[in-house]
Amino acid sequence: MDSKYKFKELMKERHSVRKFQKKEIPENILKEIISISLLSPSWANTQPWNIYVASGNTLEEIRKIWISKNKENVKGYSDIPPGHRTEFSERSQKIIEKLLNKVGELLKDPTMKEFNEANASMFSAPSVVYLTLPKGHTKYSILDLGALEMSIMLAAKDLGVDSIVAYELIKYPDVLRNSCKIPENEDIIIGIALGYEENDILNKYRADKLSLDEVCHFYK
Ligand SMILES: Cc1cc2nc3c(=O)[nH]c(=O)nc-3n(C[C@H](O)[C@H](O)[C@H](O)COP(=O)(O)O)c2cc1C
Repeated sequence: MDSKYKFKELMKERHSVRKFQKKEIPENILKEIISISLLSPSWANTQPWNIYVASGNTLEEIRKIWISKNKENVKGYSDIPPGHRTEFSERSQKIIEKLLNKVGELLKDPTMKEFNEANASMFSAPSVVYLTLPKGHTKYSILDLGALEMSIMLAAKDLGVDSIVAYELIKYPDVLRNSCKIPENEDIIIGIALGYEENDILNKYRADKLSLDEVCHFYK
């Protein structure tokens, strides 16, 4: 399949989609997305990752459990500690605050019901990719996985498939271990929902990005 975008456009067009159409992604496209992402770099080419893709009945079973656990307010957790908001820098905390306010204003609902429900139902995505690392991995393996994560999202967008990477997709790891036969000796690090963007207010939100001057320091 041909590329849809030039690189700069691809970077600008990718954004987190929080509501997907009920439209399956053809298996050959899913396989192409993952195959391209496997070109990502890693420490000494260690390629520490394993990848599990849930679609169809498997994902619907997971989604049912997800919705019910969220409804019952079952506290989520992850194989690696997610860190609390207060542990982020002051700058990052302000950005999180801004995100929540902006989404609340967009939805005209400070409780962000639709946002929370979208998260709880795995964004209605037709496929979710779970990325794992062997237990005992180094911090640099997480960096490798970040490269893989972005490659998956860009490869997807290039093939006309939208995405969101989300903690909410992996917050009941035991369910995923069972449904996707993920071995106990692997940490489930993150999930990426894939699908086709729904025309919904929730998808109108665009995250503000810091400018070059705010984050980058050049020296000559
Ligand atoms: C590691 C990670 C975890 C995330 N978890 C969630 C999540 O649980 N729920 C959610 O709605 N968005 C989640 N996001 C998406 C971010 O909110 C989003 O990437 C950020 O606001 C920037 O927006 P953009 O992706 O549209 O550029 C996560 C992003 C990353 C990188």
